[in-house]
Amino acid sequence: MDHRLGRVLISQAEITERVRELGSAVAQDYAGCEPLVVGVLKGAVVFLADLIRAAEIPVTVDFIGVSSYGTSSRSSGVVKITSDLSVSIEDRHVLLVEDIIDTGRTINYLRRNLQTRHPRSLKLCALLDKAERRAEEVAIDYLGFSIPNHFVVGYGLDFGGLYRNLGYIAVLETEPSA
Ligand code: PRP
Repeated sequence: MDHRLGRVLISQAEITERVRELGSAVAQDYAGCEPLVVGVLKGAVVFLADLIRAAEIPVTVDFIGVSSYGTSSRSSGVVKITSDLSVSIEDRHVLLVEDIIDTGRTINYLRRNLQTRHPRSLKLCALLDKAERRAEEVAIDYLGFSIPNHFVVGYGLDFGGLYRNLGYIAVLETEPSA
């Protein structure tokens, strides 16, 4: 199959505006709390970088790496931590940041795992929600955009490791090789 960038689903301007709104909401809700913002590697890196600057409150940042067993990383349902947090989250207000919630398995696994470490609070901020693909119910506290069931890349999301550095979200189109 050949792949090529298709239409822009969410423009850079739309992302900027929505991230500004999410940052304001986070700033309001976490004022005086000095939350620990935890990005899920690697897709959340771009969104997290913009979100924390839009929030304009004191935060600390950490990252957690996960991967799924099985052939499809987005559907196997068995998740393992490949790179753990570098700090304790006990008694901390933790805000998990994801680029996309698809089946919901990754984030639910992470939530269950982090809850065992006794954070003071644990919330989720996701840029994209592909609800059609959901296999498990997920509570998203801060959401950027709901999107239809297309394979999307850009603004952190990749295909084969590429496209993460696009400033917008685009549909990746596949077509049979000639
Ligand atoms: C993506 C995304 C989520 C997960 C969502 O990560 O960043 O972590 O898949 O899928 P789910 O809701 O079906 O569990 P991916 O495995 O593509 O890794 P990446 O962030 O390094 O690109």
